Amino acid sequence: MKLLVTGGAGFIGSHFIRHYLSRHKKDQIVNVDALTYAGNLGNLHEARKNSRHRFVKADIRHAPAMTRAMRGIDAVVHFAAETHVDRSLLSADEFIQTNVQGTFTLVNAARLAGVKKFVHVSTDEVYGSIPSGRTSEKHLVDPSSPYAASKTASDHMARCVYHTYGYPVMITRCTNNFGPYQYPEKFLPLFITNALENKPLPLYGKGGNVRNWIHVLDHCEAVELVLKKGRAGDIYNIAGSGEWRNIDVAQKIIQLTNRSLNLLHFVKDRAGHDLRYAPDDRKIRRGLGWKEKRPFAKELPGLVQWYKDNEAWWQKIKAGSFKKYYKKQYKR
Ligand code: NAD
Ligand code: TYD
Repeated sequence: MKLLVTGGAGFIGSHFIRHYLSRHKKDQIVNVDALTYAGNLGNLHEARKNSRHRFVKADIRHAPAMTRAMRGIDAVVHFAAETHVDRSLLSADEFIQTNVQGTFTLVNAARLAGVKKFVHVSTDEVYGSIPSGRTSEKHLVDPSSPYAASKTASDHMARCVYHTYGYPVMITRCTNNFGPYQYPEKFLPLFITNALENKPLPLYGKGGNVRNWIHVLDHCEAVELVLKKGRAGDIYNIAGSGEWRNIDVAQKIIQLTNRSLNLLHFVKDRAGHDLRYAPDDRKIRRGLGWKEKRPFAKELPGLVQWYKDNEAWWQKIKAGSFKKYYKKQYKR
């Protein structure tokens, strides 16, 4: 099988490529990524030496390039997106263009090229803030941030191609991922690397917001299952077992890095900050047999150790264009 993966130089896409190549020794992957600020070929070092992996620098919004990329492809797994909520609050243009227009361009190119199936990787943020209870795949979508709204729109654009043409699109909606190689603008890598550098940890509001954390490889295994066994047109929620308040995660990071609680800085809250996400993932567990193997509480010490051991990787990012973003974001 020849797979086209988009966003394979990003956090989750690069894990998916490594994982997939190691499990499917005869399959090939074409990795399409525009290398935005979040794309980093350094996330893919071993895979880049693998002759079954081919990197193509291209933008999913560019229809002719996507049509070319689809030649000989059997299935698409679509990760490429603008992904950071805080950046979507500063400007939403790129989110609308890449996530909405780009997704439609890509699905359409796949359909017209006769690619057999398409997995669109989405997020639990489409359901909006869920103070209590759980959201099944049938729950109303009610996104809060421009990021979440653009992902919701991308789900609709992907799904309409299924409804209109019967094209086999499947959608996954996962909770917050943790793992190595996550761009350090996101909560966990930002807090871990700041703690290692003895810098303040900027906690939004009172730190009472709750997130469900899932290991990136558990997410990748779920996406792989949907690719192999998912039903055309279906949506699959994916979630970890633990729900954590941000303040509890921050305190745990301080403990694991042997720092002082004085590093905790309560800063102005994020506008429209969702309190909690809580997708009900019984459908993928019962229907496709997916299981979480790497729970957050058990894995967090190992994640902190990874950032200790791979300082060169994140120092390079933090010393680059990230600096300007960080200044703008946290001077508020
Ligand atoms: P990321 O920001 O780390 O990586 C995104 C990748 O997409 C980058 O390599 C970037 O260069 C590429 N990209 C962006 N715009 C592009 C374009 N126009 N054309 C081609 N490539 C482009 O993101 P991530 O955290 O790995 O997330 C991957 C996917 O998973 C996204 O669709 C995201 O919405 C979804 N998701 C993420 C999480 C999470 O916790 N990170 C949770 C649920 C779902
Ligand atoms: P984030 O990693 O941006 O993921 P998302 O908002 O998509 O869930 O943030 C996770 C949580 O951490 C969220 O409640 C916002 C909070 N947060 C902070 O308190 N401070 C920060 O500097 C960041 C980036 C996030």
